[in-house]
Amino acid sequence: MKRINDSCDIQILVCVNERPASDPLPSCGHMRGHSFFNALRIATTAWAARLGVRVWVNRTLCQGFCSKTGVSVSVFPGQLRWHSVSESDIAQILKSIETEIIPRNC
Ligand code: FES
Repeated sequence: MKRINDSCDIQILVCVNERPASDPLPSCGHMRGHSFFNALRIATTAWAARLGVRVWVNRTLCQGFCSKTGVSVSVFPGQLRWHSVSESDIAQILKSIETEIIPRNC
């Protein structure tokens, strides 16, 4: 095992979980999770370059905050989490990361 000593990497995890239609629980993948993921990836490129941080936008399965009105998103470090997110929330999410996570962790 080798420890990685690295500069700050911000991980933005987007749930794209898809349950079968017969499952009573909602699924972020059915709540535009995939299009949200793609829009977030595009939005973070210039944003991360401007701030000089490395950002990883990755898809996950269920994060445990399933909602019928949007997607679940988690950010590490800092453990910011949202549910019921849509593409119109991207700017607010990036602003929260910029003001709450980067000053403390990067
Ligand atoms: S299906 Fe996305 S948080 Fe559960």
